[in-house]
Amino acid sequence: MIFEESAQKIVVLGTGGTIAGSSARVEDPIGYTAGQIDIAELLRNLPGMPERLGSVQLVTEQVAQLDSKDMEFAIWLQLAERVQYHLKQVDVRAVLITHGTDTLEETAYFLHAVLPPELQCCKPVVLTCAMRPASSLESDGPQNLRDAISVALTSGVLGVVVLCAGTLHSALDVQKMHTYRLDAFASGDAGALGYVENGLLRLVKNWPLEQAGYASSAIESIADDGSWPRVEIVMNHVGGSAAVVDALLQPLPGYAPMQGLVVAATGNGSLHMALEAALSRASQAGVKVLRSSRCALGRVISGGNDEFEHANGLTPVKARVALMLKLLARD
Ligand code: SIN
Repeated sequence: MIFEESAQKIVVLGTGGTIAGSSARVEDPIGYTAGQIDIAELLRNLPGMPERLGSVQLVTEQVAQLDSKDMEFAIWLQLAERVQYHLKQVDVRAVLITHGTDTLEETAYFLHAVLPPELQCCKPVVLTCAMRPASSLESDGPQNLRDAISVALTSGVLGVVVLCAGTLHSALDVQKMHTYRLDAFASGDAGALGYVENGLLRLVKNWPLEQAGYASSAIESIADDGSWPRVEIVMNHVGGSAAVVDALLQPLPGYAPMQGLVVAATGNGSLHMALEAALSRASQAGVKVLRSSRCALGRVISGGNDEFEHANGLTPVKARVALMLKLLARD
């Protein structure tokens, strides 16, 4: 039994991001460096915490300290291992992760995909972030952290979720939609899971029962030999051509041959004829091609006899993660 209602610890893993960012001037919301302040420091003196936590203890661990645009597979692996380790402990009720907003949705989806279902079924992994640095006058990190802790304290919360600006999203649906607003994330057609209001989580839909966990064996493959398959993304656009795909098929010194290619197609998966022909050549050369859409909402709906497999409603960046894991999975 890995869960007890009385579990007394919430583990908070720091990875950097704007939430840990610092700038020379408190009034500067843009000219800052992400990933500067330790997770223990971010949680120190967080207002209202003793009352909210009661006897529950926050335990911190610094897994990385970076701007999430520079997120690397090696850190993902380390993060997945640490999350898995902590979720297995009987006295841990939840794991929280602080992360930069720029690639948060990829990390959330990755964890959702690789954490075994038996670990996701009864405890939450809550990712949170900020759009203003910790040093800013308008810093949103403290409120997001407080809300994420409230989510972690709510019984029945499970799986990988994302909390930003009082809104709770599932790892599957969350997407960064805005470059500057504090409420930068949305869940597209699926909508948010719920809202944190005055420290209480109000769910607006049933908890997602579908847990991925299909790729846990992928993690074992990576841990064994350390290499991730090379999967690239190309986009369809006016004046599309074969140039990028043909170039990607060429050997590139220092890089493994490309094994997968996600195409961010236009609309309902449409492709410029020159790009489509190049993707066919890639497919014939053994590259696995996955078709997603560059539209922010909706999914590619199959006409029945499509040459390239669809990304099952995933955005291009999540489709890339899914394809890498599929290529890695042993089962
Ligand atoms: C980052 O993604 O690490 C920087 C940007 C942000 O957190 O908003």
